[in-house]
Amino acid sequence: CEDSRIHGIKNRIRVVPNFPKPGIMFQDITTLLLDHKAFKNTIDLFIERYKHKNISVVAGIEARGFIFGPPIALAIGAKFVPMRKPRKLPEEYILEYGTDCLEMHIEAVKPTERALVVDDLIATGGTLCAAIRLLERVGAEVVECACVIELPELKFLVNFSFVTIGSMLEIA
Ligand code: PRP
Repeated sequence: CEDSRIHGIKNRIRVVPNFPKPGIMFQDITTLLLDHKAFKNTIDLFIERYKHKNISVVAGIEARGFIFGPPIALAIGAKFVPMRKPRKLPEEYILEYGTDCLEMHIEAVKPTERALVVDDLIATGGTLCAAIRLLERVGAEVVECACVIELPELKFLVNFSFVTIGSMLEIA
């Protein structure tokens, strides 16, 4: 059932304290990738949510959005667009530990396309917000943002729609 899949996924995420800086609890998804069933369940949960949403673009955020985005894009019949960190077409944003920016090829997404943004984790939401601004700048509509993990201890205030594996418990 849905609940046991989510439980299994959460169990496979390794938490590394004080990395890359003191006070940061790094959420390591590489341990999730080692478990075929948990990795597949993660991708399947997103596929089930987005397969009938008429999404034509999956925009994956570097680096771990490059892992989760493509299998979702293939399964729902969308193209995959990598959103790179950093330089060119920059949208500045504040990260939990520093400033960074995103770029993408402007011809990759056409006006009126329906986009899904994928990353491994939302903390402050700054990265996803920059991705949304970039996609909207080229005229795309961002349907939702999808992440595997959210950091609840960071009290972010975001004005966009996003879902995480954890929050799928409530919508399941
Ligand atoms: C992490 C994560 C997101 C971003 C989320 O990336 O993969 O992309 O932080 O943070 P935010 O919600 O506060 O914007 P990280 O900084 O570890 O960079 P990397 O993927 O290049 O390693």
